[in-house]
Amino acid sequence: MCGIFGYCNYLVEKSRGEIIDTLVDGLQRLEYRGYDSTGIAIDGDEPDSTLVYKQIGKVSALKEEIAEHHPKRDVTFVSHCGIAHTRWATHGEPKQVNCHPQKSDPTGEFVIVHNGIITNFRELKTLLSNKGYSFESDTDTECIAKLFKHLYDTNIQNGNELDFHELTKLVLLELEGSYGLLCRSSHYPDEVMATRKGSPLLIGVKSEKKLKVDFVDVEFPDDNAQPETPLVSERSNGLASSRNLTVNGGRKVRLFDHEDRGNSNLLPIAANEFNLRHSQSRAFLSEDGTPNPVEFFLSSDASSVIKHTKKVLFLEDNDIAHIYDGEIHIHRSRREVGASMTRSIQTLEMELAQIMKGPYKHFMQKEIFEQPESTLNTMRGRIDFENNSVMLGGLQAWLPAIRRARRLIMIACGTSYHSCLATRAIFEELSEIPVSVELASDFLDRKSPVFRDDICVFVSQSGETADTMLALNYCLERGALTVGIVNSVGSSISRITHCGVHINAGPEIGVASTKAYTSQYIALVMVALSLSDDRVSKIERRGDIMQGLKKIPQQIKEVLQLEGKIKQLCEKDLKDQKSLLLLGRGYQFASALEGALKIKEISYMHSEGVLAGELKHGVLALVDEDLPIIAFGTRDSLFPKVVSSIEQVTARKGHPIVICNKNDEVWEKKAATTKMVTLEVPQTVDCLQGLLNIIPLQLISYWLAVNKGIDVDFPRNLAKSVTVE
Ligand code: F6R
Repeated sequence: MCGIFGYCNYLVEKSRGEIIDTLVDGLQRLEYRGYDSTGIAIDGDEPDSTLVYKQIGKVSALKEEIAEHHPKRDVTFVSHCGIAHTRWATHGEPKQVNCHPQKSDPTGEFVIVHNGIITNFRELKTLLSNKGYSFESDTDTECIAKLFKHLYDTNIQNGNELDFHELTKLVLLELEGSYGLLCRSSHYPDEVMATRKGSPLLIGVKSEKKLKVDFVDVEFPDDNAQPETPLVSERSNGLASSRNLTVNGGRKVRLFDHEDRGNSNLLPIAANEFNLRHSQSRAFLSEDGTPNPVEFFLSSDASSVIKHTKKVLFLEDNDIAHIYDGEIHIHRSRREVGASMTRSIQTLEMELAQIMKGPYKHFMQKEIFEQPESTLNTMRGRIDFENNSVMLGGLQAWLPAIRRARRLIMIACGTSYHSCLATRAIFEELSEIPVSVELASDFLDRKSPVFRDDICVFVSQSGETADTMLALNYCLERGALTVGIVNSVGSSISRITHCGVHINAGPEIGVASTKAYTSQYIALVMVALSLSDDRVSKIERRGDIMQGLKKIPQQIKEVLQLEGKIKQLCEKDLKDQKSLLLLGRGYQFASALEGALKIKEISYMHSEGVLAGELKHGVLALVDEDLPIIAFGTRDSLFPKVVSSIEQVTARKGHPIVICNKNDEVWEKKAATTKMVTLEVPQTVDCLQGLLNIIPLQLISYWLAVNKGIDVDFPRNLAKSVTVE
């Protein structure tokens, strides 16, 4: 769970100072992925030497560390490759030696930045230790650096001078686990290797001249082995096309012309390295064949690249991207039948302004206040409110198959799991398919049975959560139809699932998920609406829900006006409390769980979401006049039962804070005669009420944390994207 960043410039003169600033700035934008230590590796003053700077803490600490060492900032480089890392510890506590880049040896012949976990690192460490290597860190990553050196030295001794990517392939053969990694080496100056398996990695491309995609030589072992499907075929999004097939020296050669379709350039790659040893996608020569000044920005995430370029190439698992001489050459680390054989350079739609804080103090606050807009974006172009119909492009073709299913399993973690719980009832009601909701880790721990006719829905903001990814692979292996409900476009889950819906909430930077929750919630309701659009018996209910959804963005705006009252409540009544109970029932049980999670993770206050019906089965023992309790008392069919639960609390001298509908006489009367506090929200359709009820809880968690002086966007021990098990 880390962020990796790399910057390569070719024929673009840059001073060392500029290179450092680019790397450090890239890290700053990746800090949400982990922020316990950071580091960079760049060229030193001597030829083929490496400078490594590392520091515990945030990127600001790294900046100070670099400044203290006074590297010569004005030395210039026409071509250069630097790599950088921001870490969230998995192996080895946050200390200087455990920071990345990790080195193969004191001089840094090979230096590595890595996101993921090498599961066989102990075996590798023993093996390399037996060969005389000594380890200074507790990290799994140090093994990779030493493995590079060991295999390099051994091959040189045997007279094999390996190309950098050939060496990388040998290294990857030894690794088990997950990785997104960048490697630079003094043996391969101005080159960088980027490879991924299970961790995200993309390459931003900034080119001065118009790019040309040149020939790709495709070599088959024999003609009979030629696949029937074209190596590069028209993709559904129309980004790539196969042009001509000619024969060249007995080898099959595919000719690709550059086609500028406004937002993409085609980068064809070899299907696998065994068949396609001579594949050369010389995509970075300029159209007139002259050398092309070009910069590459390698990153775990587009947010750090967008400032420099919108053209990006997403690497797939098992891709090895070898960058040198201003070109990217993509190889495959292993032969895979059916693996995608094209890589296209896509244009990101994201604006840098979208990922900046604007007038807000924290990303979390900004994201809470973005919800009127983000929820609207989730529905935009998908719901026709005039005709009460829903159209989800990424799902439409799969609806008949989904409707035939005998059961549907929703699988997710944390907040995303709560969005599944919040929508399960309406899903079952509209689709009439039994739905179970699973925590990804527990689902895997139990090795839950999955069948070919199951529909498995994976909900994830990042699209990279390791537990969810593992569960997805598990379901794919068992032949289930998989659906992704994902925010990050181009993320692993969005690419690997058969079909799905992007929630379009925009980048979420704050570690605590807020706007992704409400957008996931709406996306799931829209899926349920799509599944029931052939049922006459549901017309009225569907119509009510869609008209309810139409009003949600405006109603969220109204709820956000509670901020002043909530801020006061947090300063006055809640600030010094040790513990908090949240009571909810039916649709509001998910709100109680999600509210409790928000409070725990951001304000470090113990809080627990309790099903109101369970109160009398044990939890009531906790209630006295001191324990703060927040109860969801909005109107739905369970309202009388909720009122009764809250009365059980007041009968034991508890003073609950009740989230209720505006002008509800029941609560108005009680608030007038007791110390009860109410937070009033507008009323909506029962199954959508959770969208409004969660907003006060997001604000409570935010203001509790601010009052305690907690760094809201970087809560301790947590990271935004949990890419480890
Ligand atoms: C809590 C939070 C986490 C995530 C969980 C899953 O605020 O953000 O609980 O919801 O780690 O992450 P995604 O949705 O990226 O799969």
